[in-house]
Amino acid sequence: MFSRGNTRRRSFREFCPPGEGCAAGNAIACNYTMQDAEPERIAGQAMDSHNSIAGDVVLGKDVRLSKFINLYGCTIGDETKIGAFVEIQKNASVGKRCKISSHTFICEGVTVEDNVFIGHGVMFINDGHPRATNTDGSLQTEADWKVERTMIKTGASIGSGATILSRVTVGENAMVGAGSVVTRDVPAHAVVAGNPAKVLRYLGPQAEQAGVPAAIPFLDLVTPHLELEQELVSAFRQSLHTAGFVGGRPVEEFEKAFATFCNTAHAVAVSSGTDALRFALMACGIEAGDVVVTVPNTFIATTEAISQAGALPEFVDIDDQTCNLSVERLRDYLEKQCKRNAAGKLVSLRSGRPVTAVVPVHLYGQMADMDGIEQLATEYGLKVIEDACQAHGAEYFSARRSCWMKAGSMGHAAAFSFYPGKNLGACGEGGAATTNDAEAAARMRLLRDHGQIKKYYHDVEGYNGRLDAIQASFLHAKLPHLPGWNLKRRERAAEYRQLLLDNGAVTLLREPEWSRGVYHLYVVCVADRDGLMEHLKNEGIGTGIHYPIPLHRQKAYAALNYAEGDFPVTERMARQIVSLPMFPQLTSIQQARVAEQIGAFTASRPGKGEV
Ligand SMILES: Cc1ncc(COP(=O)(O)O)c(C=O)c1O
Repeated sequence: MFSRGNTRRRSFREFCPPGEGCAAGNAIACNYTMQDAEPERIAGQAMDSHNSIAGDVVLGKDVRLSKFINLYGCTIGDETKIGAFVEIQKNASVGKRCKISSHTFICEGVTVEDNVFIGHGVMFINDGHPRATNTDGSLQTEADWKVERTMIKTGASIGSGATILSRVTVGENAMVGAGSVVTRDVPAHAVVAGNPAKVLRYLGPQAEQAGVPAAIPFLDLVTPHLELEQELVSAFRQSLHTAGFVGGRPVEEFEKAFATFCNTAHAVAVSSGTDALRFALMACGIEAGDVVVTVPNTFIATTEAISQAGALPEFVDIDDQTCNLSVERLRDYLEKQCKRNAAGKLVSLRSGRPVTAVVPVHLYGQMADMDGIEQLATEYGLKVIEDACQAHGAEYFSARRSCWMKAGSMGHAAAFSFYPGKNLGACGEGGAATTNDAEAAARMRLLRDHGQIKKYYHDVEGYNGRLDAIQASFLHAKLPHLPGWNLKRRERAAEYRQLLLDNGAVTLLREPEWSRGVYHLYVVCVADRDGLMEHLKNEGIGTGIHYPIPLHRQKAYAALNYAEGDFPVTERMARQIVSLPMFPQLTSIQQARVAEQIGAFTASRPGKGEV
């Protein structure tokens, strides 16, 4: 497995008389500067150009050459760039717009198509069984060699230090990891690495067109940002040019736009969804020592915010069809686990503390049953603070109001997260609290900014919880796209439903007629959830669990003294739920493959996820 070739170096000058440029090529416009005489090498001084380009080299237009390059008998396409110390032998061909990095060796028999990237020190081989001598002891010559060919197809990338053995084809747009030893063909769009190089995954939707199973990520955050690259870069540039990094117009304008989107009077932009929920609770009058009721099937930020506001979380179980707060369980809790004290205050029997608020979480982008929750809240004198961190744009048909209502517009206040993976995500951290209550909004503005009403005048002790102006600009640029993205998520969800409906081993969550969810996540239940995830992972399909350990079983809440079995629906769900790939750019072809692989797995395992 060695490379052999004609090692006789023919100097450029042998073919090109001084002053004529690269005479061998047809249309030549390389930046190679010819020297009249061999440059003298002086210790400590930079050497001048010192290339060896034979007269039989065919150079395309605008080929760019570095120094100390040795080329002979090869063809180099237009606009290709070749780094220092590269050797390319006779009968090798390099296409257009390739980048060949320094110290790479391309031997006879290698064909590199267009747009190929080759890293530093890449070694090609053209003889699988080299010998120095023949059986009679004579030194082998070129006549004894049979060149074995190697092909690098259009758009492929070869990492630095890779070795590509002979008789190998690296497919279109494939990617070979640095230091890999490629011993057999690399499929188009594959990412390979190691010695011998193995397929790690497949790249991009083009892979599907090539009939190659591409990896399907759980979430694609790159595509939407590339689609909006111009707008986002110009928002960033605007911030740089004005040095407006904190507060100011970008934040105010985004707040206005987000309030309009949510159909609320106010939106207060803050540094995260957790802060939004904490400030909303505090601004609604939740005090240290209060109990705030929520669900155990949520992200820990829900209860962190409750604790950070000085309150104590207590849980009620979720509905087994929707995975959101169960109105029946909330009623049970209020009727059976609370009592009125002498002063008429509702007190938790569990903790002896006053119960002052409920936080319904619109989990997975699906609405909690707000009419029922609000009715109980009114009956028991509770504030309702919506955790809408996963539900930007979700809608609820409120029978008591006889209209569709946006998430975040029904409670006393609501919290949204702009964590990057959310339906509306910043390019960093961010959040917002919404409310129709002007006083609560003013209070939240104080809390997020060190409690100051104007610079250095602090009415209360607050927090550093502001949203960066740059993030506000990014969010403002993305906001007009949110309805379209949400619509696509709903279409994808409808498609999953169709694809999975007949799979008896998969239980789908219910979207009640009063909910227009925005499918932040698409969650299904399967008995052997872990087995399915492993199978999908092996097929290059990303999944997640939201959430594997209910909050009442988390170590962080051991002091709350809940036990296994306290919230049976949440506990069962935590064992069976799996979130499938879901993002607006997900394609029908990708979804069909996800469903097909789920089918392949469940066909081999009996059992159904119960809901
Ligand atoms: C339900 C829920 N609540 C609160 C939060 C907290 O948001 P952030 O991460 O922006 O603080 C999240 C974020 O993941 C969430 O999913």
